[in-house]
Amino acid sequence: MGKIIAIANQKGGVGKTTTSINLSAALALEGKKILVVDADPQGNCTSGFGIEKNEQENTLYELLLDECSTQECILRDVVPGIDLIPANINLAAAEIELIGIHRKEFILRDALDYVRDDYDYVIMDCPPSLNVLTVNAMVAADSVIVPIQCEYYALEGLSQLIHTINLVRERLNRRLDVEGIVFTMFDARTNLSAQVVENVKDNVQQYVYGTVIPRNIRLAEAPSYGEPITTYDPRSSGAAAYRALAVEVIRRDDPSEPEPEPLSELTAEPESLQEQPASKQKSLQDERPASGQGSDTLQEQLSPSEWG
Ligand SMILES: Nc1ncnc2c1ncn2[C@@H]1O[C@H](COP(=O)(O)OP(=O)(O)O)[C@@H](O)[C@H]1O
Ligand SMILES: [Mg+2]
Repeated sequence: MGKIIAIANQKGGVGKTTTSINLSAALALEGKKILVVDADPQGNCTSGFGIEKNEQENTLYELLLDECSTQECILRDVVPGIDLIPANINLAAAEIELIGIHRKEFILRDALDYVRDDYDYVIMDCPPSLNVLTVNAMVAADSVIVPIQCEYYALEGLSQLIHTINLVRERLNRRLDVEGIVFTMFDARTNLSAQVVENVKDNVQQYVYGTVIPRNIRLAEAPSYGEPITTYDPRSSGAAAYRALAVEVIRRDDPSEPEPEPLSELTAEPESLQEQPASKQKSLQDERPASGQGSDTLQEQLSPSEWG
């Protein structure tokens, strides 16, 4: 049965869409069959795969409003190994149109139930808000990957995001898990990037992927050519990073998979980034603190007492 992962962070511009596209493409290169769901009315994920978003008859909007079936809105093989449920600006109206609809939080989950067996991973690109679209994604999901941009306000809103994940878990989807936290747009030239990574690691170390995505202009260019980085510039540092992340994601599900290759560009960076290769990280179970120690730190928000 395919694993369903929401890529979420209510902050805009942190790398959700870039991660959705390129992690999916890298997973496909590892031989996985992927369905990408564009759950953002901006439709950047759709256009990033080279799909003309405004020319689609059936999109996530029609699916949520029960105007088409799941099969009818899936675009096949937008790149080899990847199918896509597209989105465009029409999706912005879904929030209003779903008011009063019975069990509106469960529509996407029910729709994906029909197809999840056809895929190894379903990757959902969430909008930059905690609205009904994000909640639909979190209710459908097994887990959430949180991209965090290496910048000064990185932690702003993270606490709120984790609170939302906890609420969804308590009330709507008991199996929802944090899959991992991935740092994006790491700039090796600034101390700030390294400090942000350290600061977040102090709080939620056990979730952080060993792979850090560097700031790489090729990643920013690729969408305008409608291609993932794996074909646009397979030799770039961005492509190498997303390929390493894909291997890590697969390994967290199945530790018998081979370890990721170390990234040469990053191993030359501050020691702090080297100290926790993914393979050495303890499992989430090991690291979760004992329950019943109420506090507002991120660490304890993520503790078992909150995990329900
Ligand atoms: N690692 C990176 N290096 C360089 N530019 C990046 C990187 N990741 C994202 N970007 C650029 O930053 C902007 C925001 O990224 P995006 O993935 O759209 O964020 P979100 O979906 O969270 O709003 C985009 O212009 C994107 O091309
Ligand atoms: Mg986006």
